[in-house]
Amino acid sequence: MKKHLFIIICLLLSVFCVNAADKKFIKVTTDGVELVFQVGQNGRLYQSYLGKKLSYDTDLNYLPMGTEAYLTHGMEDYFEPAIHIVHNDFNSSLLLKYISHSAHQLATGVDETVITLQDEKYPVTVKLHFIAYAKENLIKTFTEITHQEKKAVKLQKYASSMLHLNHSKYFLTEFAGDWAHEANMTEQPLSFGKKVIDTKLGSRADMFVSPFFLVALDKESEENNGEVLVGSLGWTGNFQFTFEVDQNNGLRIISGINPYASEYTLNPNEVFRTPEFYFTYSCSGKGQASRNFHDWARKYQVKDGDKTRMTLLNNWEATYFNFDEEKLVALMDDAVKLGVDLFLLDDGWFGNKYPRQSDRQGLGDWDETKDKLPHGVGYLTEAAKKKGIKFGIWIEPEMVNPKSELYEKHPDWVIHLPNRDEYYFRNQLVLDLSNPKVQDYVFGIVDNLMTKYPEIAFFKWDCNSPITNIYSYYLKEKQTHLYIEHVRGLYNILERVKAKYPNLPMMLCSGGGGRTDFEALKYFTEFWPSDNTDPIERLFIQWGFSQVFPSKTMCAHVTTWNKNTSIKFRTEVAMMCKLGFDIKLSDMNEREATYCHEAVQNYNRLKPVILDGDLFRLVSPYEGNHTSSMYVSKDQKKAVLFAFDIHPRYAEKLYPVRLNGLDPNKMYRVNEINKVQTMPMRPGMNNPLDNKVYSGDYLMTVGLNLFSTRQLNSRVIEIVAE
Ligand code: DGJ
Repeated sequence: MKKHLFIIICLLLSVFCVNAADKKFIKVTTDGVELVFQVGQNGRLYQSYLGKKLSYDTDLNYLPMGTEAYLTHGMEDYFEPAIHIVHNDFNSSLLLKYISHSAHQLATGVDETVITLQDEKYPVTVKLHFIAYAKENLIKTFTEITHQEKKAVKLQKYASSMLHLNHSKYFLTEFAGDWAHEANMTEQPLSFGKKVIDTKLGSRADMFVSPFFLVALDKESEENNGEVLVGSLGWTGNFQFTFEVDQNNGLRIISGINPYASEYTLNPNEVFRTPEFYFTYSCSGKGQASRNFHDWARKYQVKDGDKTRMTLLNNWEATYFNFDEEKLVALMDDAVKLGVDLFLLDDGWFGNKYPRQSDRQGLGDWDETKDKLPHGVGYLTEAAKKKGIKFGIWIEPEMVNPKSELYEKHPDWVIHLPNRDEYYFRNQLVLDLSNPKVQDYVFGIVDNLMTKYPEIAFFKWDCNSPITNIYSYYLKEKQTHLYIEHVRGLYNILERVKAKYPNLPMMLCSGGGGRTDFEALKYFTEFWPSDNTDPIERLFIQWGFSQVFPSKTMCAHVTTWNKNTSIKFRTEVAMMCKLGFDIKLSDMNEREATYCHEAVQNYNRLKPVILDGDLFRLVSPYEGNHTSSMYVSKDQKKAVLFAFDIHPRYAEKLYPVRLNGLDPNKMYRVNEINKVQTMPMRPGMNNPLDNKVYSGDYLMTVGLNLFSTRQLNSRVIEIVAE
């Protein structure tokens, strides 16, 4: 009997020991990155490590305990908390202890770890989710908050993620700007205290700043060297990133919905699921971090991330609101001459009581304007079909002009204050997407168009106003839920659209780049980075967005902005992303039109490399008068190199540009394409970019003379392994 008891005690002890050992370190790992948590003697969860994956588990024992992983309000740490909750008894403290964790595989190369924390005094549970994408070295995190208190609690703060870093120096890059001036990169050192990047616009939320950042560790960020963390929040609404350096020079990064004016009443057993935060950690600079994001986005996040994209001709800049059937059909002929896949009809085709002749009226009334389109959209889809191209259409379904039938019929569907004068942004107001009836209506806009005109092959979904006059007739006493429920309502609509029309490509547009997040891109194949299509500005804007977004998601159109630049220059800037045109052929001469046609053909041939290859940014436009980037196919057999001289100095000294991403042991044929012969070649002149064979080693060690002292000059070079 005694012997049995002894064996049982030993067994129990061994089980306990295994659990204790298991509990000690919780690892979230990819092929190259590791995030390690530890449970302290006090039962609380600490983040002990974030960085390059460690080779030996035995070394984990040497890791410091670190900082409390998901910091709560009201306890002994005096810095910014990740969560702040007010209980039924008005006590607002929370002390989370480790309860359990589990790990399981979601797919090959994708593993999820869930850590469950609970408060001993209040029945509040917090689950931290980490989904690790092994090959892409990207980790997706989100948090679930729930409780079983008697009545609802108040959530004041509810971060998606909290990360801790411990380095000598931190340099933060933010991506701020304004309409037509998006995603400017500015790098600044972080020292003691807080830096907050956030938005309060509600809708068109990213107009002033995009929801991603880059933190370089120990030294300023570099393209191919140094440690950087790049993070992004998937939330198409108000977001907030807080970077706080504490008294020990530790950096705490809190990411999530902006809690501004958004106290959330959480009912017992309701789960508050935060948006997802995605991050990667690179030890070889921001170039690698971008490639991690691009690979992950194409494979796991963006709608049809693995499919190709259509080239198009859009009529917006060619006609603005001033068009009729004849003009549109003539533009379709231009599309055919250019050789693009699709014609896209933009704003101005709808409204009868208040025809949409300008942005002052008609928004919300989605019937074709009889004067402009007497035969309806069907006539246009038919015309496009006859010409062998596809047809796409613009909508702005979440918005309304006060001068519209929709507003007259349903003023309570509109976000506006019941007791004050209205004020407008672009003469319009935002529909209240928290209201399920409004969600049905917005879904119906797409559904009706698709039912009536199944030939529609593409949507451009615009969103031009932030939330103004904030008040929801639907939410009544829950006004502080509006910013959140509005975005959730948008996702409900987009889910329904995606479920019913899974193969319908859509462009996400928001007065240019006012919506640039990865959650939205689950429903959109691409986005419009900026209304600014001046190619010089675009070199910067595209450079900024390329830090996290793959080229196939970024629409770039050739327009008449900046006529000082040649059509060649404008087209080649656009060719670095998803190529389109927003111009009439009559804006070009014969030679330019022929050039564009050839460029489209070249683009179609090079699309697999440009859209699905690895991006290597070679020379930054922020550094001077020239810029260059290249794309390399995954098998390193093909590459496309772009080079631009912006405003070179007279007699400037030029240096070769070292290429990147090629196989040093392969021989590559290098050939300049898209050429426009402006000057006859002198006999005997030997262009080193014309049909020459170099080793990858040479191209990456010595490089090529890509730049010139010519103003606004551009070059595209095709590189093919022999
Ligand atoms: C803003 C968009 O960014 C433009 O491309 C265009 O679609 C206009 N809206 C139309 O109103």
